[in-house]
Amino acid sequence: MDMTATSLDRYLNKVTCGDCLELMRELPDESVDLVVTDPPYGVGYKKKGDVIKCQIVRGRERVHPTQKPLELLTTLLKATEDTKQIVLDPFLGSGTTAVAAERLGRQWIGFEISPEYCAIAEARIVKERAQLKIGGL
Ligand SMILES: C[S@@+](CC[C@H](N)C(=O)[O-])C[C@H]1O[C@@H](n2cnc3c(N)ncnc32)[C@H](O)[C@@H]1O
Repeated sequence: MDMTATSLDRYLNKVTCGDCLELMRELPDESVDLVVTDPPYGVGYKKKGDVIKCQIVRGRERVHPTQKPLELLTTLLKATEDTKQIVLDPFLGSGTTAVAAERLGRQWIGFEISPEYCAIAEARIVKERAQLKIGGL
């Protein structure tokens, strides 16, 4: 049996609730191609040329205090040309990276420490998959 595939499958295209510092150790070496994340601290990044401007998430769509616009994550994922790449977001929050990945048909892994945000992320992903299914009919 290919143990690498088995241990990766446990995490692929699903939200795993837990501490990413521990969970990342469970991932097989070289199994992730791209990390797209929004860690819980300010990095003071100000390089003007690399700024992607998007509308902030407002109203009923806002389900996490630091939720990022879906457009931002979609733009970042689209910048990688290899659609077979596996994307990891170790600080998934409300699941924006996962929703963007689903929309683009990408494979993803998401870790989130808060059970409340894990549930919110899962609900967003279920809704996105249902919409994609309707759109694909
Ligand atoms: C800035 S928010 C991410 C918001 C996300 N981009 C979105 O659009 O909803 C960072 C998230 O990291 C989670 N977090 C903090 N420490 C963590 C850890 N050690 N492992 C996994 N998740 C963690 C927090 O609960 C928080 O939801």
